[in-house]
Amino acid sequence: MFSHLQQPPADPILGLSVKFKADNNPHKIDLSAGIYKDGAGITPVLACVKTAEKFRLENEASKAYLGSAGSAVFNERIAALILGDHQVIRQDRIRTISTPGGTGALRIAAELINKTKPGATIWVSNPTWANHQGVFKAAGLTVKTYPYYDYENNGLDFTAMLEALKQVSKDDAVLLHACCHNPSGMDLNPQQWQQVAELSKEIGFMPVIDIAYQGFGQGLDIDAYGLRLMADTVEQMLICSSCSKNFGLYRDRIGACSIIGKTASSTAIISAVMITVVRVNYSMPPAHGAAIVETILGSQELTQQWYIELKEMRDRIGDMRTLLVDKLVEHGVNRDFSFITRQNGMFSFLGIDADQIQRLQAEFGIYVVGSSRISLASIAITNVDYLTQSIAKVLK
Ligand code: LMR
Repeated sequence: MFSHLQQPPADPILGLSVKFKADNNPHKIDLSAGIYKDGAGITPVLACVKTAEKFRLENEASKAYLGSAGSAVFNERIAALILGDHQVIRQDRIRTISTPGGTGALRIAAELINKTKPGATIWVSNPTWANHQGVFKAAGLTVKTYPYYDYENNGLDFTAMLEALKQVSKDDAVLLHACCHNPSGMDLNPQQWQQVAELSKEIGFMPVIDIAYQGFGQGLDIDAYGLRLMADTVEQMLICSSCSKNFGLYRDRIGACSIIGKTASSTAIISAVMITVVRVNYSMPPAHGAAIVETILGSQELTQQWYIELKEMRDRIGDMRTLLVDKLVEHGVNRDFSFITRQNGMFSFLGIDADQIQRLQAEFGIYVVGSSRISLASIAITNVDYLTQSIAKVLK
């Protein structure tokens, strides 16, 4: 059966983490995967999560199945977190299901689209998260790209993006990053969101919004601004969200897939079809992460504590953006890296070439994704000098 299989190439992101672990360099720095680390290089379990876990341990009364949609309480609270007090909730035009992480949500969204229209096209930004294309193709979709990042000016190429989206057909889906664009850190501003939302309404293409970093950009509500505007404007959309980053629940695999439909009754039908997609995939989502999140969001005290902890993570990354740029100047780099302070979330491109990326890894034990994407969340006061001195050396 398997004798013809060949070794597949390493994953462009997770493969680097494996290499990093095996590296003996005592100064090594892993700037690859988007995992938050504190100033001491630890990915902490949030204190609000610890409290919620303790509560669940003491109070969980049953391990019986929850069903393919997962916990109804989690689903309701996550919809409110993403959308706020939005009309689609009041109009009963949204259904949310719990999924195994944000990737699980993307896969279910893709399979739902493919079940509705086999081989349908989904447009993704160029560049996008290294796993998007793989997930969508595995579900049977056709993937096309629209221009997004302007590598020369380290900004958004909005004119080209809009021109490309004007060519999208009404039967297509378009993937948009709600905030903290992965990998570029470059987000749409409110006017640009408005234009994309109007275009979506005019043409009729369906937005699929990936919101994996809510709270890591400017704040929970601001980060959802574009998504909420889109929900104000279009009749149908899909939202794939993740609790991996903002609740620090990476390995617990908890995310959500939400469908917004034209009417309450059509939404109920789409959601029932989505459930059939889940049933033949993994039958039901894991419950633990959802239980933690619903406990936090159901308690005013724990929610307040979560806001504080989330802000601490967001602010630390923002501080590291500024520090990185300052330290590059201090160590004699005369290329302008100030764009890094104007981008959001965990990632930015360094804009260095493949040789320089390879030298950082081989000579300095610094692991950067092949696109030159770095995770700012791995930078700390303790490693920033070594990092920026190393970058200065490879740029010479
Ligand atoms: C990333 O982009 O680094 C994270 O989302 C981790 C992953 O699964 O790739």
